[in-house]
Amino acid sequence: MTTEQSESTDRAPLGPPGVEEMVRANEANWDARTPVHVASAFYGLDGTRRPDDWFAPFEWADLGELAGLDVLHLQCHLGTETAAFADRGARAVGLDFSAEAVAQARRLAAETGREMEFVRSDVYQAVAALGDRRFDVIYTGKGAVCYLPDLTAWAETVATLLRPGGTFYLVEFHPLLNALGPTPPTDPDTPPLLLRHDYLAGRGALRSDTPTTYTDGPPLQGATTSYEWRHGVGEVVDALLGAGLSLQGIRETEVLPWPRFPSMVPDADGWWRLPDSEPIIPLLYAVRAVKPAQP
Ligand SMILES: C[S@@+](CC[C@H](N)C(=O)[O-])C[C@H]1O[C@@H](n2cnc3c(N)ncnc32)[C@H](O)[C@@H]1O
Repeated sequence: MTTEQSESTDRAPLGPPGVEEMVRANEANWDARTPVHVASAFYGLDGTRRPDDWFAPFEWADLGELAGLDVLHLQCHLGTETAAFADRGARAVGLDFSAEAVAQARRLAAETGREMEFVRSDVYQAVAALGDRRFDVIYTGKGAVCYLPDLTAWAETVATLLRPGGTFYLVEFHPLLNALGPTPPTDPDTPPLLLRHDYLAGRGALRSDTPTTYTDGPPLQGATTSYEWRHGVGEVVDALLGAGLSLQGIRETEVLPWPRFPSMVPDADGWWRLPDSEPIIPLLYAVRAVKPAQP
């Protein structure tokens, strides 16, 4: 999940840690975030938030009928979105590398009586972890791609796991959102937003060392370091095309599922947008691609 970059965010130093070490730091960081997230009002797992709350209406229009389909949710975290697929009659499988998150997702599935399966695996090991299983729909996003150092290998994984004719759907925070930051606080309620961070990839991993996460709750108990990689929309689309998928559509929208900046205002669906005084800019984007039925 992209957090607002703070004083503690800086460029990863040259040399060690290597990519594998950064990914393992992320795994420990997500394990540490998990108990905070489970108890948070943000995720509302006590029933105050419903799985559908995490989806914009356009997502259901793009995804279409899911009943009876095999749906794989990559980087599923606590399975909050995975649950919405199960509620629509899909055979839903969530995959995540955080053992803590997968354990909580399984517990929540059992407690809510939903039939869902959760697999613990790194995305890059997903083909081995899932064996010969293939899926009609693969969904991912809302704070997922920023943790992936290699989009080519990721897209090839997606293409392998899709059945011919299957759909891949990505809904992700727009790189423009990630590039925006408030100027040093003058009025914290209405921070002017400026381009303060990279939009495109190119300068390597961004290191963050902070005990806070994006939800409410207490500080993390250790494992406070995480790494993110910036990916422009073109880089994401190129990776999917390179893996042989066929692009069906791209949406750029000005809404977010939660208020990233204090000045944001809710719309009728409970999603959030910048106030009228700000330019209309893309904050979230969606990519829909299919695996050709005939290679
Ligand atoms: C912000 S969540 C995205 C899920 C959902 N949108 C949400 O907000 O709950 C990011 C998830 O990506 C997972 N993750 C990060 N890197 C991963 C990797 N290489 N393989 C598998 N899961 C990974 C983390 O464990 C975390 O659960």
